Amino acid sequence: MSKVEEITVIQYDRNGDADVLEERTAPVRPPGSGEVLVEVITAGVNHIDGFIRSGREEAWADEPFPRGSGSDFAGIVVTGDDAGRFRPGHEVIGHLRQGAHASHVVVPVAALVRKPPHVSWETAGGLFLAGATALDTLDELRIGPGDTVVISAAAGGVGSIEAQLAKHAGARVIGTCGERNFDYLRQLGIHPVTYGPGIEDRIREKAPEGVTALIDNFGQDGRALAAALGVPPARYRSSEDRRDTELRLLLDDPASVARGTAQLERLARLADERAFTLLVSGFYPLTDIVSAYDDLQRLHARGKIVLGTHPVTTYRTVKARDIHEARD
Ligand SMILES: NC(=O)c1ccc[n+]([C@@H]2O[C@H](COP(=O)([O-])OP(=O)(O)OC[C@H]3O[C@@H](n4cnc5c(N)ncnc54)[C@H](OP(=O)(O)O)[C@@H]3O)[C@@H](O)[C@H]2O)c1
Repeated sequence: MSKVEEITVIQYDRNGDADVLEERTAPVRPPGSGEVLVEVITAGVNHIDGFIRSGREEAWADEPFPRGSGSDFAGIVVTGDDAGRFRPGHEVIGHLRQGAHASHVVVPVAALVRKPPHVSWETAGGLFLAGATALDTLDELRIGPGDTVVISAAAGGVGSIEAQLAKHAGARVIGTCGERNFDYLRQLGIHPVTYGPGIEDRIREKAPEGVTALIDNFGQDGRALAAALGVPPARYRSSEDRRDTELRLLLDDPASVARGTAQLERLARLADERAFTLLVSGFYPLTDIVSAYDDLQRLHARGKIVLGTHPVTTYRTVKARDIHEARD
C-alpha cells in the first residue's frame, strides 16, 4: 500500500446549509498510540449533521471551526495500531464525533469494529448513527415478544432498522409511511399504515388488541397519538428523545465512545445474521455531498443515503428523490 501523505476532507468554516461544505486537501496526521489510519470507502449522511451544521444544536456551539462533517464510516486500515489489534488491510466500521466525510480518518481503535465480510460497504458505511439510535431506543423501551409497536417514518434510515430489529426481537410492528413504501415494508414483515389525518383509526384497525409502545421518528403529533392509543408514557419515544440519543452517540469521551462501539458491534453482528437489511436508496460520490444532503432533506429517502469515496461506475445510481418523484 503506497504511503498516504495528503487526504481529502469535507469541512466548513461557518454554520449554514450544505453549501457551506468544502472539499479540501490536508496533510495526514500520523496516528498516535492506540490510533489507526483508515482509508474511508463509504460514509453515511444523517439529519443531525445538518442540524449541527445549521447552528441549531446548542451543545455544539463551542465546537471550533473549521469543523468536519459526518460520523459514520467504513473503510480499510492503512496504518495499524501499536498493539497490533487492527492491521493494514483489515476492513472496519467506525464512528467519529465529526470528520467521517473524508478520504481517510485517524481514529482510536476504541471506535472501530471489524466489518463482517458479507456486510456490504454501502450498508457498513451507513450503519452507526441510524443503527445505534434504533438499538438504543428499542433497548430503552425493552421491545420484545408480546409488544405491538408503532414506528413512524418506518421506511426511513432509522425507522427501517428499528422496525426490522423490533420484529427480530419478537414484536408485532406497525410502520407509518407513504403508500409507495407499503410493498417495501410488507416485504420486511412490517404492517404499513399511511401517516396523516385518520391515522389513529388506521392503527386501531391493524391492532385491535391495542398498541404497547410508540416511537415517533418524524415528530408530528406523536405524543397525542400515543395517548389516544393508550400507550403508557414510559413506552413512548418522541423525535426530541431521538435527537438526544443521537447527540449522546456523538459524544467523544472514552465512556461514550466505548458504549457507541459496543452498539456498533451488535449492529454489525445483526447485519451479518440478516436480522435486518439496510436498503441504500441514494449512493453519491463524496464530491457530490451537497446533492446527498439535498436528497436527504426531501424527507422521502427509503433506507439510507450513503457517500462513496471510490465510485466505480460512470453513471449515477438512482437517487432517493427519483424513486419518490417517479410515482407521479
Ligand atoms: N427532532 C429531531 O431532532 C430529529 C432528529 C433526527 C431526525 N429527525 C427527523 O426524523 C425524520 C426521520 O429521520 P430519518 O433519519 O429516518 O430520515 P429519513 O431517512 O430522511 O426519513 C424519511 C422517511 O420519513 C417519512 N416521512 C416523510 N414525511 C412523513 C410524515 N409526515 N410522517 C411520518 N413519516 C414521514 C418518509 O416516508 P415516505 O417516503 O414513505 O413518505 C421517509 O421514509 C426526519 O424527518 C428527521 O428530520 C428529527
